[in-house]
Amino acid sequence: MPKPELSASDKPCELKLPEAQPVEAGLPLVVDFKNVTKTFGVGTSNAFTAVKDVTFAVEDLPGIGEFIGILGPSGCGKSTVLRLIAGLAPHYPATSGTVLVHGKPVVKPGPDRGFVFQDYANFPHLTVLRNVAFGLECAGVSEKERIERAKEWIGKVGLDPVRDAGKYPHQLSGGMQQRVAIARTLIMHPRIILMDEPFGALDPTTRHRMQDLLVSLWRELEATVFFITHDVPEAVYLGDRVFIFSASPGTVAHQLVVAPPDRPAEEMQSEPVFLESVREVRGMLGRLEEKAVEGKGD
Ligand SMILES: Nc1ncnc2c1ncn2[C@@H]1O[C@H](COP(=O)(O)OP(=O)(O)O)[C@@H](O)[C@H]1O
Ligand SMILES: [Mg+2]
Repeated sequence: MPKPELSASDKPCELKLPEAQPVEAGLPLVVDFKNVTKTFGVGTSNAFTAVKDVTFAVEDLPGIGEFIGILGPSGCGKSTVLRLIAGLAPHYPATSGTVLVHGKPVVKPGPDRGFVFQDYANFPHLTVLRNVAFGLECAGVSEKERIERAKEWIGKVGLDPVRDAGKYPHQLSGGMQQRVAIARTLIMHPRIILMDEPFGALDPTTRHRMQDLLVSLWRELEATVFFITHDVPEAVYLGDRVFIFSASPGTVAHQLVVAPPDRPAEEMQSEPVFLESVREVRGMLGRLEEKAVEGKGD
């Protein structure tokens, strides 16, 4: 078992030794990266290696999905890793190494993997209802059923199924637009949810509300979540595990096990023990950034 970088005793959000998890016989890993390298422009004078030798595994734990927070300096390849899982070009395919999802090589995007972007990515010409129902429409679900299910999901993400359903994205605040994007993704019940700085453009209060919402939906869906953020408290709060990437070319420099979010965001994130964990993670990130500036790599 890999040793975590930090350990502590009885703090509510400390970084501690991972508990041994029984590996169910025959259950493939949810995501398995082995020595994954991505070089853009291979064979040209502009060749650029974004991630190098990325190796990690996320087990399939029946009845619970793991929440992985991802931190790292800007440009270190965090989005590249998520897009390799999603099968999205030009990051996909990897130049070398293997990317397996549920035991099989990724060949293209699929409904088993939902993606939530920072910029909401809703269809501007569609109403909230049609945005949320879009995936079901593509999947050939009947109009009656998709309206019903979309209204249910509009409610689940904290919007009003009557008042908000007929609005267009430009009539909504940033937080509301991101709620629509989350509903649009989660209505398809993806087993893996990929989130690339989804709350990066939100104010702190809205952000805490969205974190609480995400925790409750994640528990309900039992999905595996990969969540990129620049916000250290957000990663430490939401994550079961936090991956810290080194600067470019990125690789997973640290994997930390942190306490799961079992209290509201605002409350837990103001506790001294939580703030201490955040300070330690910031220290690790800072050291990785310093190394990068010194040109030593990591
Ligand atoms: N299509 C591309 N062609 C060349 N370089 C790219 C391309 N996409 C991303 N990169 C580079 O790869 C590195 C990693 O990018 P990215 O995964 O977006 O980083 P992060 O999400 O950590 O900020 C960056 O230096 C970026 O400029
Ligand atoms: Mg990115």
